[in-house]
Amino acid sequence: MARDIIVSPSILSADFARLETEIKAVVEAGADWIHVDVMDGHFVPNLTIGPPVVKSLRKTTDKFFDVHLMIENPEKYVDDFIAAGSDLLTIHIEVAPNPVNLLRHMRSKGVQAGLTCRPSTSVDKVLPYLGEIDLFLVMTVEPGFSGQSFMADQIEKIKIVRREFDRLGSKAYLEVDGGINETTGKQCRQAGADTFVAGNFVFKNDYRKAIATLKGLS
Ligand code: DX5
Ligand code: ZN
Repeated sequence: MARDIIVSPSILSADFARLETEIKAVVEAGADWIHVDVMDGHFVPNLTIGPPVVKSLRKTTDKFFDVHLMIENPEKYVDDFIAAGSDLLTIHIEVAPNPVNLLRHMRSKGVQAGLTCRPSTSVDKVLPYLGEIDLFLVMTVEPGFSGQSFMADQIEKIKIVRREFDRLGSKAYLEVDGGINETTGKQCRQAGADTFVAGNFVFKNDYRKAIATLKGLS
């Protein structure tokens, strides 16, 4: 049986002047996790937040922090993000082409290990590592910005990863991120996704209704 749907609102679409209030509001509205988008201006053409902000946000809630690292040289920074209070760290295969040691290091430090790739990266590049992870993230937009349109050509990737997790008997999360709303979320759900990141769909709508819509996908 498929696990219950997890909704992880991306605070990249929140009001940064009121992050504590925004996080408390989505938690109150039913968010399961909080998705934190970390961008370094190199791996992606945008700059967001680093470990000190994660550490400060950690004081505002005990919700699970799902931290998406869109940064070069992730091995240099994972310990700082772990110390800041992350619960799960997702790294990109493009900047960690041999990720096994890093994934094992993260798990040994008590955080869950996630892996992802850009939409243009072949799923073949990540398949060898699916047995080493707690979460695989299928990017359904080019990483860098919130509010972009869903890339339907990534649905095949969701299906392939789902099949491989089932073959391995893995209980890892299969997450999607980018342009997720009621319609695109349903397509991802039917392809086998169980964990839904949403930025604009949550923060530009009624939080409670949007989260409930995603949790009710079938
Ligand atoms: C894109 C980020 C996403 C983004 C999602 O690089 O990884 O998490 O904030 O925002 P929406 O749901 O608005 O596409
Ligand atoms: Zn993200």
